[in-house]
Amino acid sequence: MASTHGAAQVLVASNRGPVSYTRETDGSLTAKRGGGGLVSGLSAIGSDAGALWVCSALSDGDREAVRHGVAEPGTRMLDIPADVHADAYNGIANSVLWFVHHMLYQTPLEPVFDAEFRRQWASYETYNRAFAEALAEEAAEGASVLVQDYHLTLVPGMLRELRPDLRIGHFSHTPWAPPEYFRMLPDDIARQLLTGMLGADRLGFLTRRWADAFTACCDAVVGGVGTTRIGVHGLGADADFLRERAHRPDVAERMAALREEIGPGRRTVVRVDRTELSKNIVRGLLAYAQLLADHPEWRERVVHVAFAYPSRQDLEVYRAYTAEVQRVADEVNARYGTPGWTPVVLHVKDDFARSLAAYRLADVALVNPIRDGMNLVAKEVPLLADDGCALVLSREAGAYEELGEDAIGVNPYDVTGTARALHEALTLSPEERAERSKRLAEAATALPPAQWFLDQLTALRAQPAS
Ligand code: F6P
Repeated sequence: MASTHGAAQVLVASNRGPVSYTRETDGSLTAKRGGGGLVSGLSAIGSDAGALWVCSALSDGDREAVRHGVAEPGTRMLDIPADVHADAYNGIANSVLWFVHHMLYQTPLEPVFDAEFRRQWASYETYNRAFAEALAEEAAEGASVLVQDYHLTLVPGMLRELRPDLRIGHFSHTPWAPPEYFRMLPDDIARQLLTGMLGADRLGFLTRRWADAFTACCDAVVGGVGTTRIGVHGLGADADFLRERAHRPDVAERMAALREEIGPGRRTVVRVDRTELSKNIVRGLLAYAQLLADHPEWRERVVHVAFAYPSRQDLEVYRAYTAEVQRVADEVNARYGTPGWTPVVLHVKDDFARSLAAYRLADVALVNPIRDGMNLVAKEVPLLADDGCALVLSREAGAYEELGEDAIGVNPYDVTGTARALHEALTLSPEERAERSKRLAEAATALPPAQWFLDQLTALRAQPAS
């Protein structure tokens, strides 16, 4: 057990860590560091706090790194057996808990909680226990532990039993399901999940709506939240990082290439997403097609720049959804395209510099998820768009709570309504658009990642120990 840092020590636990390893053809292992809110948040506490990030090995390269004792300073990767991890991550976290919180089931046929589900649930318990044990081993007396997300809902309860001295926080990056939907889970599983979370001193959510849904689930299933405190921390965009990064030469190069693809003088409707079932990319394409049908004046004058990057391709339903996005984009292009105009420019290969280039060129940002914890794209585009942008935003995205007033709100299922919203966005006067975009950028940066992280830590430490 680390003892040098005592109560000042901070540990973070998440499925996906800040680094991943790849085996090169010459046999060497290369490390690639990722970005995101947690990475910049954690860097805010400085290196002398003895911070440790516990995460899971996800790839063969990661597993080799662990087995050869290769680790980035401040990280510990857990070599959880690949089959256990697959059951926990693909089987339970992404196919059950993600579906519950985003309300994605087609309920006449799913979910089915059978013996196979129970087998996978046992792996989810094993995987959560591996995290709890590693954290218990690494944490100094009285240290603060910040556990992340739906992958690790059982960790707070397990860790509390192993180490009652620790301050334990948990943060949900997803929405939380309302009780009627949450209670599709078998009763004992629903109870175990909530009791696991309530092992924390403090639980964090991205919006009041998700926090209230959690509390309502606890009231319905376990008779309340007990002594656990609930907080709301609406993660904002990292303005300093994004503005600097978006003005580097590689982004300028990609802007030039995109301008070629778009064609001179045309307006842009931009979306950038992981190809995620909850992002509603297909209905976005259908709404754009409806716009071209209802308003022929936009033909040849607008391009839908849609970046849909691969995600969770181990799951058949994600592969099918990815194919459907491509099919519908092709269909719109076949129906409306002309020799000099491609109505939908779809890119599926992840390229961060090109995403930033699209943000800078955006006239309209389309963010229409079925349901989303926050959605940082909605916050990032208004910040970076060179001429300001209009934001078409689903009222089911967490970001709507903060940006709703200056966005054009949509019901994500209403394709004709979304087409109308796109038309309204494209026809905003330049003054109105600039005004709104400025206010959106201000709201989007109200809580930068470093402050978001520190607020949670301060609140956790300030709380009386349970
Ligand atoms: O929204 C929840 C979340 O865990 C995010 O924190 C993250 O961006 C996303 O899902 C990524 O999921 P995965 O690790 O499965 O690619």
